[in-house]
Amino acid sequence: MPLTRTSELMKTGRPLAAFNVITLEHAEAIAAGAEAAGNAPAVLQISENAVKYHGGNLGPLAAATAAVARTSSAPLALHLDHVETVDLLHAAHAHGFDSVMYDASKLPYADNVKATAAAARWAHARGIWLEAELGRIGGKPGDAHTPGVRTDPTEAAAYVAETGVDALAVAVGSSHAMTTRTATLDHTLIATLRATVPVPLVLHGSSGVPDSELRAAIAAGIRKINVGTALNRAFTTTLRASLGSHPQATDPRKHLTPAREAMAGVVTQFLEAVRS
Ligand code: G3H
Ligand code: ZN
Repeated sequence: MPLTRTSELMKTGRPLAAFNVITLEHAEAIAAGAEAAGNAPAVLQISENAVKYHGGNLGPLAAATAAVARTSSAPLALHLDHVETVDLLHAAHAHGFDSVMYDASKLPYADNVKATAAAARWAHARGIWLEAELGRIGGKPGDAHTPGVRTDPTEAAAYVAETGVDALAVAVGSSHAMTTRTATLDHTLIATLRATVPVPLVLHGSSGVPDSELRAAIAAGIRKINVGTALNRAFTTTLRASLGSHPQATDPRKHLTPAREAMAGVVTQFLEAVRS
């Protein structure tokens, strides 16, 4: 089916899961997992660090991801994630993205507002939905782990008013790159943010959040759930096992096929967990 717009999925008011794409196999697994979940809607998102992995060239991975999404029977949308450079923000439009997360969360508040407001003006002039982050979620490689940081509701409301962003990633207890699902979220804070902030709230680092916590976070007001590491963990665990079981197999498809299936299974599990 034709590509779905992330903004349209966000406007339905139903919880939405977004999954990170690093390789073609990730995109195929997300599509297969969404189809197995009864053609559930999902977002395929490419992070700036995945673009760096592909030599700083967004085009090939974006084109492959879009082609996979278009040929799926599930309603799939595209999103460019954790964009920290203006060059990549501008490339988003050239490569057909209608949804971007511009991440200036490393900057002091005033600088974050200034950079994000400029990004939002640029995006809105081109019909692009813009997500931003306030309060450091942390945990990414090379990033300081900031488990205690929380998004302040009053500051968040002011931030949205000053920047004009369409969605807000908030620090409520999750952390990027967790390999165990042991995070505990602050549901009271989520509810307060929901009441204070007039745009949908986004939970990053959802790989580390148990299903029960995800459901409670959705009930409290989280709308979009970002998942990356859980797919990578399934991929590498399965790949490692296959390489061990079939040491003579040199065709990568022998190992990548089960690794891709394992990622698809994780996608289906998350989609079923967040389904309203
Ligand atoms: O933006 C991407 C997500 O926040 C992924 O986080 O890899 O910890 O699931 P995760
Ligand atoms: Zn994230």
